[in-house]
Amino acid sequence: MVNVLFVCLGNICRSPTAHAVFAHKVAQRKLQHIIKVDSVGTAAYHINKPPDKRSQQVGKERGYELGHLSARQICASDFLHFDYILAMDNANLSHLRQNCPNEHLLKLELFLRYGGSVEEEVPDPYYGGEDGFQHVLDLVENAADGLLEEIIKQRRLS
Ligand code: 4NP
Repeated sequence: MVNVLFVCLGNICRSPTAHAVFAHKVAQRKLQHIIKVDSVGTAAYHINKPPDKRSQQVGKERGYELGHLSARQICASDFLHFDYILAMDNANLSHLRQNCPNEHLLKLELFLRYGGSVEEEVPDPYYGGEDGFQHVLDLVENAADGLLEEIIKQRRLS
């Protein structure tokens, strides 16, 4: 089993988008019994809330369903359970580094490390317009493809 966790601040915009997109791609490759996906926020603001309506809407337009997801906050056992812990931005990554046991630090990475663009971070779209949510989806779709190929290669799943 390979366990993948996406992390942002609120777990209502970026990480649930990555969660839904990556799970969709995993299912397309029929790997859903081997690769498990989840997402969390570093903050507690939105616990138990569904994803932001704008993330749900732009996701739906491209065929991704987010409505069943609900926000939770990272907890200590996540650092043990997950194999890949992927932060959307550097603030998320430093929060994770401060809370992660030393022996699991290598699991922490910026998600866009797996993307093909020069951008390092998925920008927080929360206080902006719809174009910000579209941009999140562009970045996430791209990095999700790279991540899936990398996991398939590393774990010899093909
Ligand atoms: P996310 O976006 O980290 O992508 O879920 C945010 C959601 C809520 C807030 C900030 C970012 N907030 O400040 O409430």
